[in-house]
Amino acid sequence: MINATLLQRMIDASNDGIVVAEQEGDDDTILIYVNPAFERLTGYDANDILYRDCRFLQNDDRNQGARVLIRQAIKDGLPSREILRNYRKDGSAFWNELSITPVLNEADKRKYFIGIQKDVSRQVEAEQRVVELERQLADARARIAALEADQRS
Ligand SMILES: Cc1cc2nc3c(=O)[nH]c(=O)nc-3n(C[C@H](O)[C@H](O)[C@H](O)COP(=O)(O)O)c2cc1C
Repeated sequence: MINATLLQRMIDASNDGIVVAEQEGDDDTILIYVNPAFERLTGYDANDILYRDCRFLQNDDRNQGARVLIRQAIKDGLPSREILRNYRKDGSAFWNELSITPVLNEADKRKYFIGIQKDVSRQVEAEQRVVELERQLADARARIAALEADQRS
């Protein structure tokens, strides 16, 4: 079995954000640990954000389907993986692929969550570009078809 010090070093060395939150009342899960990659990704220092619910990363951009699905999964005690828009401390936006898994701690009978954050902005923006190009291509094809129909008549 891996020892606790080595495990801590692995989590500290991870390129993806790794956080642990605990259930606080019905509505909040508060951060009790964030790794250095989470600090780098978000620009927030651990000391400024511990004991807060991670929703602060959404700023005012709360109208997101992924947020509702995450909220429901947490309520149901189920794992989730969703992509949502988040904002760094400097206000810049990024797409966060967020994986959350609930963990019941037998020792204190409390519910904890591990969250893993991955910046997938490049992939999401590339997908959005493909969708836009497909739309432009469909428009162009429709215009060509209309011109050809005009010429025939
Ligand atoms: C372990 C854990 C990590 C989370 N990480 C993030 C995150 O990086 N970004 C984010 O926007 N929300 C994150 N959340 C989700 C929010 O804390 C919150 O649960 C979500 O916004 C849904 O609840 P609400 O509708 O009450 O805000 C995380 C939740 C947990 C439990």
